[in-house]
Amino acid sequence: MLLDLPPLVFFGGKGGVGKTTTAAAVALALSEAGRKVLLVSTDPAHNLGHLWGVKIGDQEYSLSENLEVCEIDPALTTKKHLEQAREVMYSMMPERLHKEVDHHLALSASTPGAHEAAILERLADLITTREERGYEHVIVDTAPSGHTAHLLDMPELMGAWTEGLLQRRAQSEKFGEVVRGFDATGKDKAAGVSGDSPVERRNNRIRHILLRRKEKFAKLRHELKHAVCVIVLVPERLPVLESVEFKEELARIGVPVAGYVVNRCSPADQGEFLAARREREEGFIAQLRASVGDALIVRVPLLATEVQGFAGLREYAEALGLSRS
Ligand SMILES: Nc1ncnc2c1ncn2[C@@H]1O[C@H](COP(=O)(O)OP(=O)(O)O)[C@@H](O)[C@H]1O
Ligand SMILES: [Mg+2]
Repeated sequence: MLLDLPPLVFFGGKGGVGKTTTAAAVALALSEAGRKVLLVSTDPAHNLGHLWGVKIGDQEYSLSENLEVCEIDPALTTKKHLEQAREVMYSMMPERLHKEVDHHLALSASTPGAHEAAILERLADLITTREERGYEHVIVDTAPSGHTAHLLDMPELMGAWTEGLLQRRAQSEKFGEVVRGFDATGKDKAAGVSGDSPVERRNNRIRHILLRRKEKFAKLRHELKHAVCVIVLVPERLPVLESVEFKEELARIGVPVAGYVVNRCSPADQGEFLAARREREEGFIAQLRASVGDALIVRVPLLATEVQGFAGLREYAEALGLSRS
């Protein structure tokens, strides 16, 4: 049953298969069953707003008592992140080098991966504050498959990277202390180094920022240990093969698949053409079944109209087999 979900759920799959619709329908059903839900879109081509017919941005938007949504804006996160980095670097560098700092930061904003790192940063903030903000579920509507697995894998990398920076700082601080410990005559004056010199204050500040990041990514990794993914696909040959590959990639990074939603299934009772299609589709679903053991597979029929708003999503949730509260 798709309502029986842990606090953190990712919806993944190819573009256009119905991830956003399915994630939104599940989020709505959970919220109507009395749980407080945050639905987050990480796909830069957001369409949660379009789906609900409202303008949604990077900040949480309340759709109903128990349902909030937000569309992560990587550009905004990058900007905030760079502003913080600028502040730290300005305080470390003499004023004549501040132009260099600006140049360097402008370059880092356009580095490959900066976008994804910014999405992860914001997502990490939302996920790691879930409990204190009272959300029982965070439902993540992701961009196409590759991106999702990468996103789920990144906390490991970010954690290791932050740890590396911390170690390097510890080394250079030790070195600095040793250097400062001797005056020009080579006489040891370590005992005289005060605990709040500008250099030490700066070092403490940087250490504090790095430690906070380290804690955040550790917490994110902990939350991800209990996360599951729902894979959405259409009943065709390639999507089935890709979904099986996706499941294996997720298994490698330790994220179980809670279920497969096979969307846009042709009706068997609407004429010969569609019935023949349905038969073919059942063949592909049988292939999926053979590769995923007894995992949950839910079929959703092809609907006559585009899914939109509360009414459309309730109807879609019903097609998903989610009972109304
Ligand atoms: N079962 C369905 N029948 C008809 N249209 C559907 C169905 N599922 C989704 N759609 C429509 O298909 C389009 C793409 O769905 P969407 O959820 O945005 O896909 P994704 O997020 O995977 O790109 C939307 O216009 C949606 O309303
Ligand atoms: Mg989408």
